[in-house]
Amino acid sequence: MQAGGSFGCVVITGASAGLGAEFARQLAPRSARLVLVARRVSLMETLAQELRAQQPACEIRTWGCDLREAAAREALLPVLKAETPDLLINNAGLGDYGEFETADWEKVNAMLQVNITALTHLAKGLLPELIARRGAILNVSSLASLLPIPDFAVYAATKAYVTSFSEALRIEMKPHGVRVLALCPGPVRTEFGQVSRRSPDGPGMPAKKSFYVPKEQVVLETLTALEKGRARVYPALKTTLAARVISAMPLCVMRLVMGMRLRR
Ligand SMILES: NC(=O)c1ccc[n+]([C@@H]2O[C@H](COP(=O)([O-])OP(=O)(O)OC[C@H]3O[C@@H](n4cnc5c(N)ncnc54)[C@H](OP(=O)(O)O)[C@@H]3O)[C@@H](O)[C@H]2O)c1
Repeated sequence: MQAGGSFGCVVITGASAGLGAEFARQLAPRSARLVLVARRVSLMETLAQELRAQQPACEIRTWGCDLREAAAREALLPVLKAETPDLLINNAGLGDYGEFETADWEKVNAMLQVNITALTHLAKGLLPELIARRGAILNVSSLASLLPIPDFAVYAATKAYVTSFSEALRIEMKPHGVRVLALCPGPVRTEFGQVSRRSPDGPGMPAKKSFYVPKEQVVLETLTALEKGRARVYPALKTTLAARVISAMPLCVMRLVMGMRLRR
């Protein structure tokens, strides 16, 4: 990482949509090179063209990869290592809204593979480069990581892993000068809500409209937190307050609240 919060090379997973694409937009003016990773290459290419026109000094590469697949990740890692990244943004992720009993195993497994295994695999694979460059890892977790959430049980548990892993890795990486930040957003309008549904008009995670935070604000506050070397960021005051309340809740109260299982 260079002075003033600028970067040599940034790897962003899940850059074809939502928060990942927004990270690319906000980082292009501050980076020499972006490497965008997701399955939908055409969406990333469209984004890359837009960013190349706005920021000719920033090189943008796209790489199609299904992060669920171990072999695809193994093929991706040497490519990413050769780019000598100084920031890894582990952003790709998905949810599945509904009871665990009736969940489709393929989707549950996709959540485990993308949200947990791929995030850990890329962090492990790129650590030597990140240590050499005294770089940073930004793991995209969720406010949901603080709560066991019925109807979102596996998703919330995958994010509990991400927050816990990030906190521990941050301590291990401190002597190496590598920053590790966990981003824990509340609801954000992206494709996430639609992908989480089990059918196009099926129920989704209940969240009040007023609780949503624009993706531009989420990314801006996150990049500021990264510059400041923070451990965790809950973008927007309302999310920070919610995190404080949740964290202060005795387990018996949390069980009572979550037992209400508000559905949409
Ligand atoms: N939106 C929210 O309310 C919210 C709240 C808290 C946390 N988050 C977290 O924020 C992160 C970004 O989500 P988002 O809201 O931006 O959702 P999104 O719009 O659905 O974007 C998800 C991204 O992940 C990529 N992805 C999913 N499965 C993949 C796979 N198998 N291989 C490679 N890439 C894959 C998608 O790309 P392709 O489909 O092209 O592969 C897409 O670029 C996720 O980790 C999510 O859990 C979101």
